[in-house]
Amino acid sequence: MTVNIVVGMQYGDEGKGKLVDFLAKDTDYVVRFQGGNNAGHTVVVNGEKTILHLIPSGAFHDNICVMGNGVVLDLEELKKEMDMLKEKGVDLSDRFLISENAHLILPADVEDSKADKIGGTGKGIAPAYTNKFAKIGLRARDIINVEEDLHEFDLKARENLVKFKDFLVEHSYLKKSIVNVSKVLNEAIDSGKNVLFEGAQAVGLDIDHGHYPFVTSSNASAGGACTGTGVGPTKIDKVFGVCKAYITRVDRDGESPLTTQLDDKVGKHMQVEGNEYGATTGRPRRCGWFDVVLAKHAIRVSGISGVVMTKLDVLDGLKEVKICTHYELNGSRVDDYPADAIVQRKCKPVYETFKGWENTKGVKAFEELPLEAQNYVRKIEELICVPVIMVTNGSDREECIKLKEF
Ligand code: IMP
Repeated sequence: MTVNIVVGMQYGDEGKGKLVDFLAKDTDYVVRFQGGNNAGHTVVVNGEKTILHLIPSGAFHDNICVMGNGVVLDLEELKKEMDMLKEKGVDLSDRFLISENAHLILPADVEDSKADKIGGTGKGIAPAYTNKFAKIGLRARDIINVEEDLHEFDLKARENLVKFKDFLVEHSYLKKSIVNVSKVLNEAIDSGKNVLFEGAQAVGLDIDHGHYPFVTSSNASAGGACTGTGVGPTKIDKVFGVCKAYITRVDRDGESPLTTQLDDKVGKHMQVEGNEYGATTGRPRRCGWFDVVLAKHAIRVSGISGVVMTKLDVLDGLKEVKICTHYELNGSRVDDYPADAIVQRKCKPVYETFKGWENTKGVKAFEELPLEAQNYVRKIEELICVPVIMVTNGSDREECIKLKEF
């Protein structure tokens, strides 16, 4: 029995989908615990690419897909994604569960989020979480309530329920999937099943541990897996962190801090070779060198015990590669990720430079990678003080090199 969590260590888009797909073949339940369809998880199976925004990336295996209470759910998007998967031969209708307490993204929330000033994805995420915490939101449970007329409290949420009654009734086909997820998962764990929690976004975008306000509206760190599903921390075995071999960040105006950002031809190389365009928004992602300060922050905040480094192949062909080991601010060394976006913006990256390598594509064993690429991975491992357990060198399911047992 294993109960593991996968989280992003940077600013999202690290390739969590690929790792979750990899791990899901030995998993009974794959669980999303936060965020909504702002995520964009790419899974490539036999050369065919699928981008999932809401449904767990483990869907391609025969396991049960679960949406925890910490998720915000756009019912229209859920339907579209389920239909798209069905067309690809993946039928989730009998293996999909939604927490009764998962909040709904209503059509009005999507409209509201278009006015968002910090460059959100425009998917209604912040308004839905705002309503949740203001206690005026609707939950998956209300799909049942509205049909069974169980809305007797005279609260603002009820007003919304009446206003969106037809919308809820339209999705009553989901009733059989709406369950007590905490009970289901705890019973599964107690009976020896394998459970995998799939984080969306990343620690750098966490509402509490990222650079507020350039963050998403949920806890994307590992702790969110517990609050977002009703599974206690004593049940968790391992936390895997996913990072790229470099770094990317995306938002509307490029306003958020990215200390190691490269606006030169090396940054362009990363953008082009890494196909760094938002899976949800299509926006080009800013690219830069690997940032150890952020990685260590993510490791500490999420208790990460093993790191998966993705897209090593994107650095192929560069003359030299750099790692940002720490920052400098007003002549002083900075090793801890600043809480404040304004402070972060003033920090200057300090790099160690290494010789680059030609080609990692097609390589199946770590020892067969060019020596320089091996040294690069080992150097990062040494700096972050957590083992790198896998590197990936291509987008296909098979393009990964295991360094250690999971
Ligand atoms: P929101 O989650 O739509 O509120 O967007 C808040 C911030 O998080 C914006 O800067 C988005 O670009 C970023 N963001 C949200 N989801 C993702 C993701 O899956 N990958 C990368 N960035 C994301």
